[in-house]
Amino acid sequence: MSEMSVAKAIKARRSIRAFSGEPVSEADIRELLEAARLAPSSLNSQPWRFKVLTSAEDKAFLAGDASRQQKTFLAAGAVILCLADLSAYRRESAAAYEGYAASGLFAAPTIKGIKNYVTRELSGPLAAARAAGTMNVALAVSQMMLRAVSLGLGTCWVGMFDEAAVKARFGLGEELALVCLLAVGHPAEAPGPRPRKSLEEIVLP
Ligand SMILES: Cc1cc2nc3c(=O)[nH]c(=O)nc-3n(C[C@H](O)[C@H](O)[C@H](O)COP(=O)(O)O)c2cc1C
Repeated sequence: MSEMSVAKAIKARRSIRAFSGEPVSEADIRELLEAARLAPSSLNSQPWRFKVLTSAEDKAFLAGDASRQQKTFLAAGAVILCLADLSAYRRESAAAYEGYAASGLFAAPTIKGIKNYVTRELSGPLAAARAAGTMNVALAVSQMMLRAVSLGLGTCWVGMFDEAAVKARFGLGEELALVCLLAVGHPAEAPGPRPRKSLEEIVLP
């Protein structure tokens, strides 16, 4: 069977909040993670980290404690914790800069620009790297959501959670920022498209 086109997947994707309860196969989960792995990232730092949860206990915890109203988790085949490793992000951004500077491939102004970016991202508390980490993880999650459509799966990005409680339960360190919980499963609903602004509203003159 031929693969669904990207254009078709973009148009067909919806946030799915009702799932059949059927498990998601390991092969499909792997396909989603592979789609995330191939995403672009700043200085190719690839700061995304994922924890795949499939047990009824973990899903009940997330539905009850983390987001309170998100009962959708209970029938999802899996919930993927999507995290940014801020320490790795900083370390690998700095290493990438050193590599670029030593390569001789880039003009001096470009190297200076990278240095400014890296310096900004490396200074201050770890939390200062959160915005950049989140940006990178969001792209990877977006690729997972589209890949899911092409596999006949539904997803929902859940942004409402108690980060401290989720991290404590799964023993996640302070270097890991929780960006979203991604519910993944076999859809039990087929919602139509949600409202979108027109191009005129989003493209500035
Ligand atoms: C950053 C972000 C946070 C979101 N948080 C939640 C959430 O906590 N719970 C939920 O049910 N949907 C959440 N969503 C899904 C949005 O509500 C949904 O994308 C939007 O209403 C458009 O619908 P569509 O995805 O079906 O096109 C979130 C989406 C994004 C991108």
